[in-house]
Amino acid sequence: MPIPYFDAVKSENRNVLKDSLRHFSELDRAYHLHSFTDLKQHESEEAIVIEYGNGIYLVDSKGRKYLDAMSSLWCATLGYSEPRLVEAAKRQMESLPYSHTFRGRSSEKLALLAEKLIALSPPQLTKAYFAGSGSEANESAIKIAWTYHKFTGNPRKRKIISRFNGYHGSAIFSTHLSGMPAMHEFSGARFPEIIYADFPNYFTEARHGESESEFAARLANQLERLIAENDPETIAAFIAEPIMGVGGVIVPPNAYFEKIQPILRKHGILFIVDEIICGFGRTGEMFGSITFNLKPDILTVAKGMSSAYFPISATLVTDPIYLALVESSAQKGVFSHGFTYSGHPVGAAVALETLAILEEREIVRHVKTVSKPFQQAVRQLDEYDHVTNTRGVGLMAGFDLVQNKRTRANFPPELGAGAILMNSAEKNGLFVRAIGDAVVIAPPLIIAEEEIDELFDRLRWAIEQTQILLSWRARPSVSTMVQTRQTTSDFVARTAKFNCWIDRDGRPAVPI
Ligand SMILES: Cc1ncc(COP(=O)(O)O)c(C=O)c1O
Repeated sequence: MPIPYFDAVKSENRNVLKDSLRHFSELDRAYHLHSFTDLKQHESEEAIVIEYGNGIYLVDSKGRKYLDAMSSLWCATLGYSEPRLVEAAKRQMESLPYSHTFRGRSSEKLALLAEKLIALSPPQLTKAYFAGSGSEANESAIKIAWTYHKFTGNPRKRKIISRFNGYHGSAIFSTHLSGMPAMHEFSGARFPEIIYADFPNYFTEARHGESESEFAARLANQLERLIAENDPETIAAFIAEPIMGVGGVIVPPNAYFEKIQPILRKHGILFIVDEIICGFGRTGEMFGSITFNLKPDILTVAKGMSSAYFPISATLVTDPIYLALVESSAQKGVFSHGFTYSGHPVGAAVALETLAILEEREIVRHVKTVSKPFQQAVRQLDEYDHVTNTRGVGLMAGFDLVQNKRTRANFPPELGAGAILMNSAEKNGLFVRAIGDAVVIAPPLIIAEEEIDELFDRLRWAIEQTQILLSWRARPSVSTMVQTRQTTSDFVARTAKFNCWIDRDGRPAVPI
């Protein structure tokens, strides 16, 4: 069934709407304060205003179509035009648009969703706590971990081990759970109870000649040391993503978690697995915990749980943890934690329908199938002079742009190689994400094999443009620019970063 707004945009009113759509970018710049945006740069550049979506494509207000190889923020797993999710939301809005979860209150779809989540998740997880975002799910996990330790006789267990370059959200505490110093800079807060373990990136962190297993063993030893130095009796939990997403799609080295989990168990440290990206099929299994054989005490999910059609997240816990929370209520009264939108009935209805679609259409099996050509195509990018460390699992992947593959020398950061590629891709109808000079992709899980071919055609074109631009940028000369200006007429792309046009063959032309 078509989504009504699409009809309106496509109808005879389109021209009227189109006129107003032109202004959206201006309005946005005038009044909207954006998330994770270079606000200075945004002042002088036109925003992309997305008008509608269809399957794995997004269309902006100028009618430009993009293959969304990032599922927006790793989240629109069923694409942008799934009528069943729209219907589920509509039905729920009509019958019960809102209800809360305080003082034991619930709603039908929410109870069904809790049952379904527990049925799908690893067997030791027996209760689901609901919230609205990934940050809230992770902060709930921390509060729950602290309460568990307090009511099982270990009130000193308060410290949380996170990892450098892990990402766990951007509320104040989750900002600091995220091991990204640039984010801490903006918060200015200090949380001495958060300590950071090493970044498990074999490519950048392994020593010369160290095998992946040796690297994993070294990380496990370093974790042991970190725990000893910080007094194991004071450490509450270790939080980790199965695959680091925002950190650059960092796949853990061989046997990393295998070595780490016994250490956590030995010291009574809870294992919080952040599956906010990896959950619900992204890795080719229902959970990253299955892919990497993890035994979480607490597991957090969001994003793909509702295919992002409605904000909803959950924190799943084991029986011993739940029983400690019950004990906390017995001793102190109400479990004092909750959000107005915890367990929103519309979110619950949309999530329940999402999970039904995942099962009925065997989406996880589909991911397993299409991830083969997808991962193969990613590995083939290695043939480019400046592309290295191609990596990934399931339908998430990444690669690094480096100046010299042999020496692994990076491009000077001020060149913004990753940003150039991201912009080139965008100009070529493809959304990817650059994190520094790492480029990541995680398309909707419904992507078809032909669409994977299209994704990589567009990506290759963007890489080729980027390589040429970077080499040109390294040796700019006025005479070259004048020469190319005279010989080039077919302008097809412009990188915002360097304000230059390049032609179909990727030659620079007409600096503006
Ligand atoms: C692994 C992980 N955890 C937590 C979050 C935070 O989720 P939210 O932005 O919904 O608060 C994200 C967001 O990208 C994430 O990737």
